[in-house]
Amino acid sequence: MRNRFLIAVGALTLVAYAAAAQSPREDSFEQIDNGRYLATLGDCTACHTLPGGKPFAGGVVLKTPFGDLAGANITPDLETGIGRMTLEEFQKVMSEGEGRGGYHLYGAMPFTAYTKVSKEDNAAIYAYLQSLEPVNNKVETNLLPFPFSVRKSLSVWNALNFDQGEYKPDASKSADWNRGAYIVQGLGHCGTCHTPKNILGGDDNDKFLQGGVLDNWFAPDITADPRKGIGSWSEDDIIAYLKTGANRFDVASGPMAEQVEHSSQHWADADLKAVATYLKDIGKPDAPAPDPLPATDSRLVSGAAIYADRCSACHTPTGAGIPKLFPQLAKAPLVNSDDPTTLIRVVLAGSQSGATHAAPTGPSMPSFAWNLSDQDVANVVTFVRNSWGNAATAVEPSQVGKLREALSE
Ligand code: HEC
Ligand code: HEC
Ligand code: HEC
Repeated sequence: MRNRFLIAVGALTLVAYAAAAQSPREDSFEQIDNGRYLATLGDCTACHTLPGGKPFAGGVVLKTPFGDLAGANITPDLETGIGRMTLEEFQKVMSEGEGRGGYHLYGAMPFTAYTKVSKEDNAAIYAYLQSLEPVNNKVETNLLPFPFSVRKSLSVWNALNFDQGEYKPDASKSADWNRGAYIVQGLGHCGTCHTPKNILGGDDNDKFLQGGVLDNWFAPDITADPRKGIGSWSEDDIIAYLKTGANRFDVASGPMAEQVEHSSQHWADADLKAVATYLKDIGKPDAPAPDPLPATDSRLVSGAAIYADRCSACHTPTGAGIPKLFPQLAKAPLVNSDDPTTLIRVVLAGSQSGATHAAPTGPSMPSFAWNLSDQDVANVVTFVRNSWGNAATAVEPSQVGKLREALSE
């Protein structure tokens, strides 16, 4: 009796499986799941999900040099989301930066990168977004002041700053390299932060990934340049950094810690490897290193004393750091960058590394704004930039003062 019951249940399950396999939903589950992964690769949540809020309901405020913009509600809500957006319209958002009804979107939605995404991948992302719980949440995305709030001017911006078109594989490179390029230039939109900007806020693509400033952070050069970039990192170092937020050189902070937390820690191993392959292969010939300031310079003398007192316990007296806990400061690309914004910022405001599955509670860097003057911060950062093989321009107290003011706003 019991056996017969089990057989009956088994048969019913089989029937259910068979039905599912034949119905179109089976296909669309794969499509949706693929779309979910691609949305993670593209880190859509960064701008479309408020911390602790409903997924993709929008409202994340982005600070740009021109004013504020907010990420749209991209749940399938009919009134306030993209429930009425067709696949063709979604394709236009991603590929052309054109909103539903033909208006121009602001480049804060990184369509200048997403234009590289294939039609098939966009269809999967669209299927995923349309499968989400609709959230009724009206978001006014355009919070810019006049005249920047006028969307018409964006056609000029696009003409100057936007190259529309899908990624075209380079036949002279490996499949891995091309996959890496597709991710970095497209969904990964790494250039949004790592490429310097022109005066209109467009990417200066002659200097692709050579370091950019955003919201008082400096996103360093991530080309294979050996001194300012990550040329001395192996593929495994790059993979470890993107997967766990830390490697033997550095620990990710700020916007990069968020990128790792929401996006790259979830990437497939093959995609991490592809991105590492690509990043190891791009770059410019290393510019000759400047000479470091002499250790007898009064700024270095004072900076050395502050370093010994306040910093060396964690970063070690030789700047070697402790792998995966305290970043190495000796020969670190960020320390040698022309732009010291992140260094000053981290010393003033401290920083908490992101939590990843691999390292659930990250170590943190204390804030020194309350007990180091602008002059002290300038001196200790100048010391770090000119010790243990580092060489970079001195930092002025006025640069520290400006950032201190910006951070306290
Ligand atoms: C760096 C921030 C940022 C990221 C990352 C981002 N978006 Fe956006 N997105 C925005 C902003 C800001 C707007 C509103 C732009 C405007 O109003 O001009 C927007 C608008 C949109 C719209 C148009 C909504 C509408 O109602 O017209 C869609 C669709 C969209 N994003 C999808 C995505 C998808 C899919 C991803 C990930 C692949 C993504 N976005 C990643 C910032 C971002
Ligand atoms: C939202 C802005 C943003 C985006 C998008 C972004 N990064 Fe970053 N990235 C940063 C910042 C800021 C830093 C510096 C972090 C620090 O000082 O710890 C950084 C640091 C890095 C570093 C370490 C460099 C070093 O010298 O220590 C690597 C590698 C890196 N990013 C790779 C990437 C890749 C690959 C992508 C695209 C998949 C990407 N980033 C996307 C902002 C960003
Ligand atoms: C209690 C330990 C501790 C002390 C003391 C400390 N730091 Fe840090 N520091 C850290 C940690 C941890 C990080 C990584 C933070 C993160 O990932 O967000 C860090 C990050 C940094 C970075 C960014 C490095 C990079 O590549 O991302 C710089 C620069 C830095 N510290 C300089 C200093 C200076 C200068 C002092 C002294 C004024 C100092 N630190 C004191 C723990 C410390």
